[in-house]
Amino acid sequence: MLIKKDTRTLYERIGGEDKLRHLVQRFYFHMDELSEAKVVRDMHASNLKSAEDKLFMFLSGWMGGPSLFIEKFGHPRLRMRHMPFKIDESARDQWMLCMKHALDDTVEDNELRDELMEALYGVADFMRNSA
Ligand code: HEM
Repeated sequence: MLIKKDTRTLYERIGGEDKLRHLVQRFYFHMDELSEAKVVRDMHASNLKSAEDKLFMFLSGWMGGPSLFIEKFGHPRLRMRHMPFKIDESARDQWMLCMKHALDDTVEDNELRDELMEALYGVADFMRNSA
């Protein structure tokens, strides 16, 4: 039997704009709540709204949906934009912990969850600027 590969974008597979918004909301909800993520939470402004909007816009394009971040701010230059913050392995893992909880809350498809965790780990690890 021929198994057909899912050729949809990650954006389509997650369920589009509303689902992605929800994912990002849950991500910052957990960052705010989890004591294990305190170091990363403290790097952010007290109000997380702008960070939430920007992560939503970035992930929209990154997942193959509308390139909202680029349309508004130009090339993301994400690694450079993170240089002001000390991102070591522990900070990376705190960020990923919040993302894991957010994915558990919002994505039912195990395969898609694993794929997103793996791909986002790559981006988070690339953001490291400290041993
Ligand atoms: C690895 C650990 C990471 C840490 C500690 C971190 C931390 C931060 C902080 C402190 C900000 C500033 C937010 C504010 O305005 O208050 C920020 C902005 C941002 N982060 Fe991260 N981040 C990490 C990984 C990531 C990853 C993996 C992505 C994308 C998948 C991402 C996407 C963004 C975007 C799009 C912005 C907005 C940039 C801008 O201001 O133009 N971050 N991050």
